[in-house]
This record gives sequence, C-alpha cells and structure tokens, in this order.
Amino acid sequence: MSNGTREHWSGGLGFTLAAVGSAVGLGNMWRFSYMAAENGGGAFVFLYIVLTALVGLPVMLAELTLGRGSQKSPIQALVHYGGDAWRPLGALFVAAGFVILAYYSVISGWTVRYAVEAALTGFPQDAGAHFGAIASGYPAVAWHLVFMGLVSFVVSGGIASGIERVSVALMPLLGVLVLGLAAYVTTLDGAGEGYRYYLTTDFREVLDFGVLKDAAGQAFFSLSLGMGAILTYASYLGRDRNLPKEALLVAASDFGVAFIAGMVVFPLVFALGVQGDVSASTLGALFVTLPKAFAQMGGIGRVIGGLFMLALVVGALTSAISLLEVVVSSAIDGLGWARRSAAWVCGGAIALLGVPAGMSLDALGLMDQIGGNLLLVLGGLVLSLFVGWRLGERALEEGEVGGGNRAVLRLWLFMLRFVVPPVLLIVLWYSLKESAALVIKLFS
Ligand code: PHE
Repeated sequence: MSNGTREHWSGGLGFTLAAVGSAVGLGNMWRFSYMAAENGGGAFVFLYIVLTALVGLPVMLAELTLGRGSQKSPIQALVHYGGDAWRPLGALFVAAGFVILAYYSVISGWTVRYAVEAALTGFPQDAGAHFGAIASGYPAVAWHLVFMGLVSFVVSGGIASGIERVSVALMPLLGVLVLGLAAYVTTLDGAGEGYRYYLTTDFREVLDFGVLKDAAGQAFFSLSLGMGAILTYASYLGRDRNLPKEALLVAASDFGVAFIAGMVVFPLVFALGVQGDVSASTLGALFVTLPKAFAQMGGIGRVIGGLFMLALVVGALTSAISLLEVVVSSAIDGLGWARRSAAWVCGGAIALLGVPAGMSLDALGLMDQIGGNLLLVLGGLVLSLFVGWRLGERALEEGEVGGGNRAVLRLWLFMLRFVVPPVLLIVLWYSLKESAALVIKLFS
C-alpha cells in the first residue's frame, strides 16, 4: 500500500485514546498485581516507576518516531530506515505479537466469562476451585475463541472506523470504572492495611536482579513496547503531532491506571482478609483472590465485581486489538493482503496458537515468560540501538516534526544510546536465564 492511500486516524484524540487503549489492559491489573505480589510489593513498584521513566519513555518515543516517519508497519519500517539486513529483527516483532496475543486472549477469555457470570449467577464462594475449573481445558479454549473473534472483527473494520471508534467509545468508560472502584474501596474497613502493603518499600529488595528483570519486563509489557504495537499505531499518524508529548501522555495514562488499579486490588484483598492467596497462586492471583472477596461481600460484591470485570474486558479488548494490528498491518504492507482477509486469517492463526495456553497453565506461563518478558526486552534493545545509533541525528529531525523540543530530543537520543542498552542487556541476561530454567523444568 502506498503512502498516499494509507489509512489514518481521523484526528483529535483518536490516536491518543487508541494508544492508551493499547497500553492499558490486563498488564495493568492482572500482570501488575501478580508481578508485584511475586516480587515483594513496594520494591517492585519503585523499580517499575524508575524503569518506566528511564527506559520505557525513550523506547516509546523511538517507536513513535519510526512509525510516523516511515508510515509503515514494523518490518517495513526497519527496512525503510536500515535496509534489508534488518528484516529478521522486524519479523521478531511480528512473532512477539503472535505469541503474546495467543495467551493474552486466553486470559481475556477468563475475564469475559467472569463478567458474564457476575451478571447471570454471581461469584461462587469457592473461588479457587472455580478458577481451577475454568482456567484450562475446553471451556477456556471456547472463551478464547469467542474473544479472538471479537478482536478480529474490530481490526477488520480498519483504523478510523474500527480501532479508533472502539477506543474512543470504551477508554473513557474504563477511566470512570477504575476511578469509581478506587473511590468505593476507600470505604471498606481494613483497606488501610492494603494501601500500606502496596505503598511501602523494602529497599533491600530493589538490589535483587530478579526483581529488576520482572520490573523491566512489566514496564515494556504494560506500555505495549518492544514489539511494534506503538510503532504500528504511529504509522497511521499525521505529521502535525508532537511525538514527545504523545509519548508522555500515553506513558502517564498507563502508569496512572496501573497505580490506581493497585489502589483497588490491594485494599480489597486486605479488607476481605484474602491476602494469603496472593502469594499462593501467583499467576491466577487476581482471578482467585478478587472473586473470593466479591463473593464474601454479598450483593454489593456482585455489582462491584461485575464492574471490575467489565473494566478488565474493556482493557483487554483494546490491547488485544493493537496486538493483532501489528500482525495484520504487516500482512497488508508486506504481502499485499486486503485488510478483511488479513484480520480473519491472522486472527485465526493466533487463535490456534492460543489453544495450548488454553489447555495448560504451564504453557500459558511459559508463553508469558518468553513473549511478555524475553521478546519484549529484546525488541526494546533492538529499537534503542537502531534509533540511537543507526538513525541517530535523523531521528532528531523526525522528532522535531510536529513541534518536538530540541533539548528534550537530545536528552532522548543520549538515553537511547548510553542508558537504555546497558540496562536492557542486564535484564536480558537474567530473562534468558529464567526462561531457560523454566523450559528445563517444564520438559524434564
Ligand atoms: N499493554 C498491554 C497491557 O498492558 C499488553 C500489550 C503488550 C499490548 C504488548 C500490546 C503490546 O495489557
């Protein structure tokens, strides 16, 4: 597709809401609370904030610059600026999109199911057994397929009339839901314990490289970085936008929602006395402890729980859309496919890849470790080196289009060159070690 006929956002807040929609999702609630619980709360949150600012923001701006400058999907964008040698690294992004969406959709399926159950039958008392029964197996696969159908449908509608329309309608709703829930939990007896657990930091833990690795992976996952999702959205952006400003807006919104979601989750967990379950079942923490809390709260719990699950569904949907769009836009640009067939064929292939994640939690956890931690961090490293060293000054020029501030951009380039790569190399090393250990454990 030539630049002249490339689709574009219709303007206004369309791009911003879609990008925030991509960033805000299960990562902010499910993954954030499970990672925080696994890594000792406050120390993790602290590192996550530092890494979002020092590493996440620069990489976000790198993706925005590459996407808008080239007006192309990830593989083509790298080839456009770097030549054919970069094609395999672009393909890595598309592969990450495949893997992440495949299991992300399984978890999204759980949330849709919980939301429907809240409306129809309420939350069962035995939340642990219920989660065990629905998390894997044929029903999980069935809900996963339903969810992938919905995602493919939206993406087949295109940028302005599919993705943008859904984001503009749903993101404000998500904001209202999360704020309303946070206000409600302040009224619960015992919420203070939860705030304390969430917000106090044990700085000895900060020095642990395992925590650093998880915090970095989480920053990338939550900001939708390292696999070209933001790049792809930016490729539909006009040259009138101020990219540093957009990067800040998206990152701040994502962090804001993650932070406030924590202000919902932890007080609920502590007020209802279900904190023991958080560390017992990490991956499913959110889907066991919270339904348990909702069930104990009686009628109001069903309303609050239903709204919470609705917020999760909205977040999951707008994020999943951006994951599929990476793959679909690559098929459109690279293979010349029509959008509609690209959406359904790619969506179908990803749905198939998700079946193992739907059948086994171990497979799901492994895909999250490899897709959500390893590939994203690797992608971030590639992006920072590419924009920092290969594009260099050229990136500054593109950043200035639309009003980017020169001094800010200079600082950005410095970060991309000298700060981001070493940090990500360390993280990558630990991530590789853990992925290898996980694979060995799973197959021995
Ligand atoms: N950021 C999304 C979330 O937090 C997940 C995501 C990751 C989306 C990578 C796109 C790319 O749920």
